[in-house]
Amino acid sequence: MKAPADFAQRVVHWQRAHGRKHLPWQGTRDPYRVWLSEIMLQQTQVVTVLDYFPRFLARFPDVQALAAATLADVLALWSGLGYYSRARNLHRCAQEVVSRHAGRFPASALALAALPGIGRSTAGAIAAFCFGERTPILDANVRRVLTRVLGFDADLAKAANERLLWDWAEKLLPGTGHASDMPAYTQGLMDLGATVCLARGPACARCPLADICAARLAGNPEHYPVRTRKLVRRSEDWWLLLQVDASGRCWLAPRPQRGIWAGLHCPPVYTQREALDAALQGAAAEEWPSFTHVLTHRDLQLHPLLLRTATPHGAGAWFSADQWQALGLPAPLRKLLQQLKNKLI
Ligand code: ADE
Repeated sequence: MKAPADFAQRVVHWQRAHGRKHLPWQGTRDPYRVWLSEIMLQQTQVVTVLDYFPRFLARFPDVQALAAATLADVLALWSGLGYYSRARNLHRCAQEVVSRHAGRFPASALALAALPGIGRSTAGAIAAFCFGERTPILDANVRRVLTRVLGFDADLAKAANERLLWDWAEKLLPGTGHASDMPAYTQGLMDLGATVCLARGPACARCPLADICAARLAGNPEHYPVRTRKLVRRSEDWWLLLQVDASGRCWLAPRPQRGIWAGLHCPPVYTQREALDAALQGAAAEEWPSFTHVLTHRDLQLHPLLLRTATPHGAGAWFSADQWQALGLPAPLRKLLQQLKNKLI
């Protein structure tokens, strides 16, 4: 596979001539507005977002206003948009921007992706639109455009292939001297995916990439992207409640003998945020950055929290650092406990 030399330029020129330019979240570099629109657009059509976006902004004009709201108020305004975990993450993200970043969104895709609810592609979009960062996006629409142009037919159900496609997305970016093209380039890829490079019946006659598109040249654009059904990964959220007592010991118990991490020691796991909140009963737990842990059939979205307590929740026993180091522990937990130990000394 070869990267077409003028790929980025074609996308940029096409966007400036034919792309969408008058959406209410365009023409601004305000990360709050761009972030809000990108989260709303994740599983929702543009026409619906056109209705919700201005109402949301009128009620919460900036990140401080959103952070100061109650979750109930946020959920009420979100009502009808669906996928309510987006609203919960939106609220938590606003609070984190205010409490950890002095009310300013961090100015890099990497730092943005550490915030609640902001995945790699959304982080890339915000960084490209607001800060002109040379960083790729890869949402479902863009995945379709890139796999077709490249003739990339590896199975995207496999994480390694998804990573390869991210590498391609990086290679295809405008050159280093063209950071000012990043907003048009990023929007251009989105617009091509949404209006030209359709999943069924792509409008190749209108596509600026038609003559360099491997899938079109082979006559089989609808064959892409390739993703086997049986390998479709499920994603689960796990909240890990790391409890530590005054002498730095951790509260752990063996996992059940069947299922994920069978028999390994773990802190209490909650698979619903509500269950965690119910257990905490308002106790102040410190939220650590979430991260993805990839298992064979599943992606675990791990959300660690630290609670200092003498009266721990859940079954378990206290283990000092010397003791837990000798236990069977899942790899990501061992790392977390090591970080915790370093933090405590
Ligand atoms: N879908 C996701 N992001 C978008 C954007 N910035 N404009 C239009 N549609 C989108």
